[in-house]
Amino acid sequence: MAQPYLSPRIFYGYGKLKQLKYIRGNKILIVTDKVIVDLGFIDKVTKQLKKSKTPMEYKIFDEVEPDPSDTTVLKGAEIAQEFKPDWIIAIGGGSSMDVAKMIWVLYENPEIQIIEINPLQRIKLGKKSKLVTIPTTSGTGAEITFGCVITNAKTHNKMTLANFAITPNWAIIDPNLALTMPPKLTLATGIDALTHAVEAYVSPLKNDFSDGHCLKAIQLVFKWLQRSYESGKSGTPDKEAREKMHYAGTIAGLGFGNSSGGIAHGIGHSIGAVLDLQHGFCVGILLPYTIEYLDSTSRMNFEEIVNLLQLQNGKNATEILANNIRKLLTSLNVPLNFKDFGVKEEDFKSKFEKILQFSKIDLSTKTCPRKATDDELKKLIEYSYYGKSIDF
Ligand SMILES: [Fe+2]
Repeated sequence: MAQPYLSPRIFYGYGKLKQLKYIRGNKILIVTDKVIVDLGFIDKVTKQLKKSKTPMEYKIFDEVEPDPSDTTVLKGAEIAQEFKPDWIIAIGGGSSMDVAKMIWVLYENPEIQIIEINPLQRIKLGKKSKLVTIPTTSGTGAEITFGCVITNAKTHNKMTLANFAITPNWAIIDPNLALTMPPKLTLATGIDALTHAVEAYVSPLKNDFSDGHCLKAIQLVFKWLQRSYESGKSGTPDKEAREKMHYAGTIAGLGFGNSSGGIAHGIGHSIGAVLDLQHGFCVGILLPYTIEYLDSTSRMNFEEIVNLLQLQNGKNATEILANNIRKLLTSLNVPLNFKDFGVKEEDFKSKFEKILQFSKIDLSTKTCPRKATDDELKKLIEYSYYGKSIDF
């Protein structure tokens, strides 16, 4: 790969939010959503900022919605243009961090159109401000990656936008902020992290550095996700499990960001956008089907994962990995197909063409190690709806 291995400066550990007191600047734009404000997390952020040696003025943009749109980005960018921050702090889930990345780009480069952003473009960032990301969920990896997913408000298509310059300056990985994450979110983000790591491990853009991160992340998810989820459900979150899963999300993000996603993300973005379903569940449900689909190109990679985790149950590594991921999903009460997930057949059928069209153009579909024909793509979507193992 020509480009360097990219990562923000990572501060991790319980209590690491205190890193914010070392910020030197005068104007801070905080990008977040209303839930994070209600949880009192912004107060925790400003408490640390007040300890900085420089006097600061804050502005809070808390209008980020789930599956954020380009309209929200433009609104935030306008606020940044007026306020002129020297630091932008994104705190929340993947949506807040994705929006903050785009606000950062448009604030420093007002001539750029969001839709045009691509990995080959020359974008300069850092002249006016720096970006800090603080995840409050464990798994999106958005705190690390130089890409983001923004919904086109007109077409409802989820646009994957990426450029190396968009790598955040700091990422603060403080498990305290994920301790109270609701069980459903723990699951969705945890299986998203697993999907990032598996897909990046078989991508044509994989490399020795991303491989290390992917394998570690897969290992952590298999070991800690269930405990993190169950303990959260019981109301007494297991601190160690929460910590390990918080790191797993970031570590998977390092692998994913420096390699790429694959077809579970390509189709997952599309199903999620068209049927309005949570991202992590979409890609997680798709993952075993896409693993089966990649048997001809990636069995050796699956063998490495299976050996590392000492997994069994199947006649070859592809089957063993797919079976074990299905077993993990079942143990977490995640349905194994979209029909069981609650998508009505008439909705699925009436929106099938749109899902297919969006899947075809998604950037993540293009980095799948097996080039999917239209017919294969169709079947993958159908099989994952009805719960049929891949036979092509
Ligand atoms: Fe994802």
